[in-house]
Amino acid sequence: MVQEFLGKEENVFQGRSILAETSMTPAEMEYLIDFGLHLKYLRKHNIPHRYLEGKNIALLFEKGSTRTRSSFVTSAVELGAHPDYMGVNDIHLGNKESVEDTARILGSMFDGIEFRGFKQSTVEGLAKFSGVPVWNGLTDEWHPTQTIPDLMTVKENFGHLKGLTLTYMGDGRNNVANSLLVACSMVGMNVHIVTPKELNPSEKHVAIAKKNAEVSGSEILITDDIDKGVKGSNVIYTDVWVSMGEKNWEERVNLLKPYQVNMELMKKTGTPDDQLIFLHCLPAFHDTNTTYGEDVYEKYGIKEMEVTDEVFRSDYCRAFEEGENRKHGIKAIMAATLGNLFIPSVALH
Ligand code: CP
Ligand code: NVA
Repeated sequence: MVQEFLGKEENVFQGRSILAETSMTPAEMEYLIDFGLHLKYLRKHNIPHRYLEGKNIALLFEKGSTRTRSSFVTSAVELGAHPDYMGVNDIHLGNKESVEDTARILGSMFDGIEFRGFKQSTVEGLAKFSGVPVWNGLTDEWHPTQTIPDLMTVKENFGHLKGLTLTYMGDGRNNVANSLLVACSMVGMNVHIVTPKELNPSEKHVAIAKKNAEVSGSEILITDDIDKGVKGSNVIYTDVWVSMGEKNWEERVNLLKPYQVNMELMKKTGTPDDQLIFLHCLPAFHDTNTTYGEDVYEKYGIKEMEVTDEVFRSDYCRAFEEGENRKHGIKAIMAATLGNLFIPSVALH
């Protein structure tokens, strides 16, 4: 055993960027899930873990955020680093300065960069030209700092991942759906995407998941048949019907109304209550206490969108635990890729 460690004392994550689930091997993803849970334990027990002492972190946001921003800021501080938030109107990125030039400047001053925005090519460009680790805090295509905390939440609830079935209901080709499809296929969870045909995930994302599934044994089902899709689920997951940057409310409300997560749908799983949870990346439209919620009620007459208030407030719901886990998972990603940690590669086999 000792031999295994000799000569392998490098941190295999050191200097790496996390731009999508495809930035990691399945073993690396499982490592980050467990490391996130470990960091949560340290935080809860007030055990210091200042792995990024003296580092500077740039947080670039083209889109709004509550959880991702708060997670990066509080994690950076607890790791001993200094975060600097740069909103869309604060810097020149995209307007007066190219991704390449911005990346070269930020990389010369900061030790790590988070990016939330529209194009996947922007986060890839930042990684290519900055020379420091870059973390994708959500693009139109992927949301990897969501899925690691999501799978932490699943593991906390069930004690394991392999063999469980996660069913994603709703817009099957958005960032969260893409990330869950691929992440579950990596860790051996069965993944069902239940969505109207018009919103099926792209061939590219399905092909990645299918390739992973050949190794992990995960089963993949993409269907518009709700009864078939939810049967046997352990996790029912949904996300907003209209993602940031999109505007097609009427079309989506009409298409996705039948895919709403309500109590009837939870019962259709046929799964015993203690083997079934509900997850949502948040924010969620489960009532009319938001301007969008009010607007949709006025125009289309529905008070709840992707999930009913009843399910959202039920014992199935783990969305707030999931939201808190964003912080611990994001902390794991930053610490592993930027901290000088001993993460022996033996742990990743
Ligand atoms: N789930 C998520 O990314 O939340 P925010 O948009 O609040 O960051
Ligand atoms: N699909 C959603 C996720 C929000 C966390 C969006 O992009 O708006």
